[in-house]
Amino acid sequence: MRPLTFARHSLLIVLLLALTACSSTPPPPTQPPLAADADAFALAQRLGKGVNLGNMLEAPNEGDWGLRVEAEDFPLIRAAGFAHVRVPIRWSAHAAAEAPYTIDPDFFSRIDWVVDQALANDLAVVLNVHHYDEMYADPTVHDDRFVAIWTQIAERYKDRPAEVLFEFLNEPNGALGAARWNRIFAKTLAAVRATNPTRGIVVGPVEWNSFARLDELELPEDDTHLIVTFHYYLPFEFTHQGAEWAPGSDAWLGRTWSGEGLDASDVDAHFDQAAKWAADHHRPLYLGEFGAYSKADMDSRARWTAYVARAAESRGMAWAYWEFASGFGVYDPAAKAWREPLLKALFPPTP
Ligand code: BGC
Repeated sequence: MRPLTFARHSLLIVLLLALTACSSTPPPPTQPPLAADADAFALAQRLGKGVNLGNMLEAPNEGDWGLRVEAEDFPLIRAAGFAHVRVPIRWSAHAAAEAPYTIDPDFFSRIDWVVDQALANDLAVVLNVHHYDEMYADPTVHDDRFVAIWTQIAERYKDRPAEVLFEFLNEPNGALGAARWNRIFAKTLAAVRATNPTRGIVVGPVEWNSFARLDELELPEDDTHLIVTFHYYLPFEFTHQGAEWAPGSDAWLGRTWSGEGLDASDVDAHFDQAAKWAADHHRPLYLGEFGAYSKADMDSRARWTAYVARAAESRGMAWAYWEFASGFGVYDPAAKAWREPLLKALFPPTP
């Protein structure tokens, strides 16, 4: 070895050692693979802590809302400590309007790539149907198309490992009430189970996946691969202050969240209610979305995020933060840096 090369090597080693010493969180250990027929509790445990790749593939077209899924996202997300990604997808904008409602092959290939990237980076992946707005508005007309979309997704991913999960529909709302949602869910489940008998399937109640509507969800007793989800954004006037899509929300600007008194006891009461439902029905729970929009002050956002994440963890629930790199983002794509107060709220440093 020439002296100069040796000097360079030594410098590199010193730098690497210094970097390792500075980094507060060690890289997460690799997850052991799930058994092919892992039950819902094992699947929920594997999901653990995750993040939503929001505002990417659920835009009318990827990129329309300023973000695309990038290969570099996955190693970054894994290294931060997340164990899965939830991927909101607007399949309805990429499937034919007429039977057999064929999904655009190029779009399907793009989702294949997302699944490949997640798995290659040791991240489990939840694929959902997001923003099927026509279905929320008029479910009677869209039943068949919805089942056909899921039949195609199920066929496509039937040989994928158990780390790939399906979530049938984000936040049923509008004209999609509990009775109709239960019927459509049962029909879709039967279609998907024909090709994916033990696939982890995520399902949530109506009213935007409200914990208060869990009681109305009808699930088949003998299906032990169902994870139940709910979303949490309360108090809405805090988490959605100034949100362009929430009418009147400018009036809420400046609202803070203290993490004490009623602020805290409301969260506790809501999570206790959800946890009681889960215990009574022997189902694992997955908090698939929670977050506070960027217009709230950062201290309040971090307090709320930490409190809600701990509320879920302490009751044995898996969670996915809403979302990675957009208006709620835990990551700042322009600065290419994590928003430390939010990341620390999700993963508190160990003393
Ligand atoms: C919606 C997003 C919205 C978020 C918070 C999600 O389910 O798809 O568009 O930003 O909830 O409101």
